[in-house]
Amino acid sequence: MLKGKSLIDPMDFTLNEIKEILDLANIIEKNPKKFTNLCADKILATLFYEPSTRTRFSFESAMLRLGGKVIGFSEPNSSSAKKGESIADTVRVVSCYSDIIAMRHPKEGAPMVAAGYSEVPVINAGDGGHNHPTQTLTDLLTIRSIKGDLSNLTIGFCGDLKFGRTVHSLIKALSRYTNNKFILISPKELMLPQYIKSEILEKNHIQFIEVENVEEIIKKLDILYMTRVQKERFFNEEDYIRLKDTYILNEEKMSKAPKGMIVLHPLPRVKEISYEVDKDYRACYFKQAKYGMYVRMALMAKLLGVI
Ligand code: CP
Repeated sequence: MLKGKSLIDPMDFTLNEIKEILDLANIIEKNPKKFTNLCADKILATLFYEPSTRTRFSFESAMLRLGGKVIGFSEPNSSSAKKGESIADTVRVVSCYSDIIAMRHPKEGAPMVAAGYSEVPVINAGDGGHNHPTQTLTDLLTIRSIKGDLSNLTIGFCGDLKFGRTVHSLIKALSRYTNNKFILISPKELMLPQYIKSEILEKNHIQFIEVENVEEIIKKLDILYMTRVQKERFFNEEDYIRLKDTYILNEEKMSKAPKGMIVLHPLPRVKEISYEVDKDYRACYFKQAKYGMYVRMALMAKLLGVI
């Protein structure tokens, strides 16, 4: 039963609950017009303390397409956060005005704190370098829709595995399905945090290797999940400049990849995928962004208990 729940961590829902959301998202995708009045009396509040294009717009578009309304801010300086109001007080008040809240915050754990004070479901729309569970639902929907399954996959995660919250969340989520293997491709400075390796991968006996070179392993992959080096999480600009262009996926590298391998990226990209790759039939990142809207429609409908 998803009605009334918050989504803070990708592990918050059971596999059955995730399947329920993905199944509904696929139904909505096929016939979106059938759902245009589902949330006619509902209001979504988007509290974005950090920049966003996809997550905020897809949440807002999702609620509007369900017939609901949207309030919120995309710039915390335009809210009373600027006057020093706490997250707890902001959420107590906003939950009087809305039926569901999507929150993005640079501080890890902020949406969890918010959920503790809210009268309505809170959805984590990204907290610092920690988690991004609705991007994970987007990724799972994309993978299931294109590859047909969420098991028996070899997934290469490439780029900033240290700060990339979408990577952390997706590794947690995919670890729950059978026989998935991970190839973690990053420079030494941007390796996956040890706590994810110990608490998720090693603890559950999931196969993984860590490499630095993408060309060596690209032929083994079912999915290549590219990521941006997260400039905003670096303490030192020099390190960012040195590491930012470590991986650039181009036509030449794609020529060595299997015919069935798909390329995903949560976006935004900077230079890590050349524009020439966009026309490759295996480049699925814009399709992925569209799935993000359908999955957020399904998620909100379930948490609001309107379906
Ligand atoms: N994928 C994602 O979170 O993109 P935005 O930062 O644009 O929301």
